[in-house]
This record gives sequence, structure tokens and C-alpha cells, in this order.
Amino acid sequence: MLLKFLTALLLLSLMQCFEKHTDIPSYQERAEQLMKNTALIDGHNDMPWQLRKRVHNDLSAIDLKTWNVTHTNIEKLRAGLVGAQFWVAYVPCNAQNKDAVRHALEQIDVIKRMVQMFPEDFQLTTTADGITEAFHSGKIASLIGVEGGHGIDNSLGALRMFYELGVRYLTLTHVCNTPWADSSKVDAGSVKPGVNGLSDFGKKVVEEMNRLGMLIDLSHVSKDTMLAALEVSAAPVIFSHSSAFAICHNYRNVQDDALRKQFRYCDDHLDHIRNVAGADHVGIGSDFDGFDRGPIGLEDVSKYPALIAELLQRNWSDNDIKKLLGLNFLRVFKKAEEVSRQLQKINMPSNYIIDQEKVQRPCRTFLGYPSAAFHHP
Ligand SMILES: *[C@@H]1O[C@H](CO)[C@@H](O)[C@H](O)[C@H]1NC(C)=O
Ligand SMILES: *[C@@H]1O[C@H](CO)[C@@H](O)[C@H](O)[C@H]1NC(C)=O
Ligand SMILES: [Zn+2]
Repeated sequence: MLLKFLTALLLLSLMQCFEKHTDIPSYQERAEQLMKNTALIDGHNDMPWQLRKRVHNDLSAIDLKTWNVTHTNIEKLRAGLVGAQFWVAYVPCNAQNKDAVRHALEQIDVIKRMVQMFPEDFQLTTTADGITEAFHSGKIASLIGVEGGHGIDNSLGALRMFYELGVRYLTLTHVCNTPWADSSKVDAGSVKPGVNGLSDFGKKVVEEMNRLGMLIDLSHVSKDTMLAALEVSAAPVIFSHSSAFAICHNYRNVQDDALRKQFRYCDDHLDHIRNVAGADHVGIGSDFDGFDRGPIGLEDVSKYPALIAELLQRNWSDNDIKKLLGLNFLRVFKKAEEVSRQLQKINMPSNYIIDQEKVQRPCRTFLGYPSAAFHHP
């Protein structure tokens, strides 16, 4: 389990990052040089949710180049030398058992429309090689992640169609349990445990994601769900926007001495996380536009060079910085692609259905269940 955890990639949210940055010009220049050669891949940006909240996904209502009520706009992405961005199709928990699939679809739609609207700046990307190609042609590689497992509405068919639409990670839960996975609210004590990890259906979700080549994102899930997903997943998992605290806090309670030792240092600083988890297992998942105010010096997406300059000043090696910027992410993504290729040789798409009793009834027809009566109109 420890070894498997150490294959995970922690993309750190900048929300709890250090509150200072260097102004020494030579570090800034070196940072920019590194970022021009190695794509900064940010695993988590919630700007699409801001589009929904503020303009009901009406892209014509704003100019995304200069929109300034958010942490993110195109000018700032360019100033921040962002090479690739996972745009998040976030599904709020109150849509669970209601119109969660529609929310996910509409957020995927607005991301795609945004990319189409700015072809000079964005390129829709669904592969590791695609990220590198887009970066080399001067575009911001744009990828899609769905945040909130309730967005698939307990359906492996829906999960597969999200993959076809370009979704390359699914955050197994947001702040609510799904019928097949528990959220970290369970660890916090504010929500009762549901399945204590992953149910049989939850395991099938992870297996199907492995087969598809969709990354398993464990930000927001409970400790037991993390452990269950690590057990089941044949590909390395990611934490798309985790704070050091969340990781440490969760893992400190695991009854495994080695693991506890490994995570004994809890600190919000990137360099401590590098020391603890290793330089091969850190990346950036800023969570910009998913929190209100960034730390001083890291207020918005234009500030990544200042972050990298800070790490240079703290004596991070060029190699460790390249890994943090994107090489770690590319390695993990490629591994997931390879696992998918292998699994597709031996496994058909799963038609596993969740136990009818586990899902709420009011707005369901249950067509497709063996017991369902088919009524023709
Ligand atoms: C934001 O943009 C508006 C125009 O769209 C401008 O009036 C305002 O001064 C800008 N605010 C900042 C902080 O740049
Ligand atoms: C970085 O390395 C230099 C030279 O080895 C050393 O003087 C300095 O104290 C180090 N800085 C930090 C923050 O560790
Ligand atoms: Zn989140």
C-alpha cells in the first residue's frame, strides 16, 4: 500500500502555499526560461464554474482575454506562461440524484466552446503527447476533468461517454458521498460513512476508468476511499488539487507505521512536500477560481513564474522544477494511457449496474435493470 501510494501524484493547491515571493530579477528570468522549455501543467482550474455562476455560461457576455473578476483570463494565463490547463467541469453536490449529468455536460460544453472561441490561445487536448504538441505550437493545452463522481449518476455508460467527450479525470467525490464512494466529510465527522471506501460498483468505476485511460482523482475523497482506490487502480492516481494538510491529515491516521513516518511532516510548503513525498510526486493543481483570494504573491494565474522563482531561490534544482512543472504529470498520464492500452486488449467495456436499492428512486425509470418492467408509450 505504501509503495502504491508513492506512485500517486499530488498536485498542490496554491491556496495554502507560502505567502511570499522573491523579487530578485535573476530568479524570475531563470524561472521564465524553464517555463518556456517545460510546459507548466496545472491540474485544476475552476474558471468554468465562474462562467456558470457569473454569466450562465454565456461567453459572449464577457471578454475572456481581459475578464478581471476572476483569477483567470487569457492575458493572465499568457503572462503566467501556463502550458496546459485542466479545466474543471464541476458538479455541485446538490445536483446529486437530480440533474448532475446535465450539469457535467453543460460544463464540458462551455469548456469546449471557450476553446473553440480562442483557437489562437487554446487547443483541446486529450493525450499526454497532445499536451506537448499544443505547448510547442504556442497554445495552452486544454484538458477536461469532471469534479464530483455524482456527475456520472451511477452509470458506467455515462462515464464512458464523458471519456468520449474528452474528459481525462474524474474526482471520485466532491463534498458529498456518492452511493459508491465516501467523501472526506466522513473523516471530518460531518457526514456518516456510506460505503467505507468503495462499494463493488465503486471498484468497477475505478476499473473502467483504468480501462478507458481516465485518471482517478482522489482530492476530496475519504481516507478509506483513497486506500480502496489505491488498492484497485492499476494506474497511478492523482490528487488534482490537494493541500499538503489534507494529504497529511488523512494519512496520519492510517495504521501503518511506515506510512505515518513518511508523512510525519505536515506543512503547507511545496518544498516540504517535495522532501516528504519526493520530487517525482509533486505537481501543481492550483484550484484558482475555486477559492476566493490567493496568497500574497500568488493572486492569480499570472503569478506562476513568481512561484517558480521562489523555488529557485530555495535551491530547487532545475530538474526538480521541471518535474513539478509538468514532467511528473506527463509520466503519470502516459502510464495511465499505457495501462488503458493493455486493459483494452483483455477487457470489454463493463456493463456492471449498481444495485437498484442503492440509488434513490424518485426520478429514475430503472429501465435496463433485469427486474424493470418496460412500458411502451
Ligand atoms: C476591470 O475591468 C473593468 C472594465 O471591464 C475596469 O473598469 C476595471 O477598472 C477593471 N478592474 C481592475 C481591477 O483592473
Ligand atoms: C541555497 O544554496 C546556497 C549555496 O549553496 C546557500 O548559501 C543558501 O543558504 C541556500 N538557500 C536556501 C534557502 O537553502
Ligand atoms: Zn475541489
